[in-house]
Formats: sequence, structure tokens, C-alpha cells
Amino acid sequence: MNYITEIQKLKKEKNAVVLAHCYQNIEIDNIADYVGDSLYLSQMAAKTNADIILFAGVYFMAQTAKILCPDKKVLLPDIKAGCAMADMINLSQLREFKQKHNGIPAVCYINSTAEVKSECDICCTSSNAVEIVDSLNSEKVLFLPDKNLGRWVEKQLGDVEVITYDGCCPIHHNITVEDVVQIRKENPGIKLLAHPECKEEVTSLADFTGSTTGIMNFVKNSSDKKFIIATEKGVTDRLKRDYPQKEFIIIKDNLICESMKLNTLHDIYNSLKNETYEIKVDKDISQKALNCIERMLNASKTGAAK
Ligand code: 13P
Ligand code: SF4
Repeated sequence: MNYITEIQKLKKEKNAVVLAHCYQNIEIDNIADYVGDSLYLSQMAAKTNADIILFAGVYFMAQTAKILCPDKKVLLPDIKAGCAMADMINLSQLREFKQKHNGIPAVCYINSTAEVKSECDICCTSSNAVEIVDSLNSEKVLFLPDKNLGRWVEKQLGDVEVITYDGCCPIHHNITVEDVVQIRKENPGIKLLAHPECKEEVTSLADFTGSTTGIMNFVKNSSDKKFIIATEKGVTDRLKRDYPQKEFIIIKDNLICESMKLNTLHDIYNSLKNETYEIKVDKDISQKALNCIERMLNASKTGAAK
């Protein structure tokens, strides 16, 4: 069976749209309507007129799309596609964190559950985190679950104390200073582009730090011919496809989010055909989480192009 042709047929038949994160298996781009980072995809989910949204990504992304579009059917091709970072904080852990730092506004990374979003003041993604924290005009903010992104935001702003929860992305957190030193030794003078989910000691050595789309835009606007990439492999795969005349070196092997890679064309075909797995969110939690996400969308001027 030619899955690409069959998926295109099903999309038309069912008025479905496919949103794909740029960490997905690259062949998924052949059937995706929008490919990009978390901010761009949430903006596209909020705008779509489709009846069905199929999210080629992980659970919190599909859940966010459902919160933004409660009347639409939202599908996740593989229900096991979770996010290790989002799972690092649950509602009782959030309540404990907030209680310990009473009265300080709480910013949650979009990589969090609906329950956690429902009790935070505002949401952010990696591309607008600095802008969102700044928009609060507060001397102190709580930031969760990603301590690395929180530290990076604090460094960019300079005048805000960012109190971070002890969570991280295991894939990005695994990149070390030794990795940077080694790759730089092998590739002297080549720019290092890193995601802000990397440790502070890694981002402080990078030539550019930004979201997945930010990294891709940096390459687009640069005349350099070679780059070192410090984020999940999906970004390097797409850069190699889009800029065959340039060279991209991934900072280390196995920078792979296994959860992101669970979705395949076969799963997407089954998902559209059988309308599985449908994402549902409790009405009350959904409304509160929507307020948190909408505050971000309204505060963020940051656009993320495909
Ligand atoms: P962005 O999509 O904001 O670059 O975040 C990357 C990520 O880890 C998504 O899970
Ligand atoms: Fe979560 Fe990290 Fe995978 Fe993104 S790359 S989905 S943050 S585990």
C-alpha cells in the first residue's frame, strides 16, 4: 500500500489536517500540512477549519490542540507517544512547588500536562519563553518543568529571578561540555547551534541558542557552509534535506526522542482510517488550561514560519 496516497485521500475525505513536529520521522513531512516547532503548531491548531486534527507529535501537543479546539476531533497516532519532561511534574508536585514560593507567578512550558497548565498563570514555548517571562513584569517567576530553559531565560533577561522546578528533557540534558569540546576540536571555527533545553554550561558555549524553528531559521539566514547542531536528530535530518549544499554535524549520536519517533506513516494511516486515538480532556481542566495557553498566544508576538 502507498501510505502517502492513502493518507492524502483520507485527509480530503474527512477534512483532516496533519500537524507534525520537526522531531518526527522525516517521511511524515510528505503528508503533513504544517511542520514546525511547538509554538507554530499550536498557532496552526488554533486557526484550522478542519474537522479532524491529527497530531504527529507527543501527547501534550495533541492535548494542547484539543484544549484549543474542544469541538474538533484530535487524534494521536500512537497513544504511547508521551514526553518524559512533561511527566516530571504532576498536579500535587506543582501545588507543593507553588506553596513553597507563595505569591510568585507560575510559568509552565508547553511541555506539561493539561492539569498542570490549569493551575499555572501562563504557558510558554521555547521560542517565546523570554518574551513571556518578561511580559509578567515580575521580579521573580516560577518556571516549570524545564530547569534548563528556565536558567537560559533568566540569563537572557538579567533582571528577573527565575525559580526553576527540577525537570529536564533527558535527550537535551544528556549533551555535555565534553561533547562540545570534542566536536569543536574536530571542527574548529564551526558555529554551534543549540536548543535551550540543553544545560546552561552547553548553551553558554553555543554561538546561537533557539527553538527548533529558531535553529532552522538561523541556518536559512547564514552564509556559513557548515554547522554543529545540538538538538534532537529530526532537525539535523531536515536541515540536510533542505540544504544539500551545506554540511550539518549532530553534536553526538543517539540524540533521538524515542517517543517522537513512535509515529509512523502506517500509524497515521490507521489513525485517520479508524479515528484513533482520540484525545479527550476534562471540561473544567480544559477551560482553565485554555486560559493559560491563550494568555501566551495573546502575549506572544513571536511567529514561527514553516
Ligand atoms: P520546540 O518545538 O519549542 O523547539 O521544543 C522542542 C521540544 O522538545 C518539543 O518537545
Ligand atoms: Fe519531551 Fe524531550 Fe522528547 Fe521533546 S525531545 S518530547 S522535551 S522528551
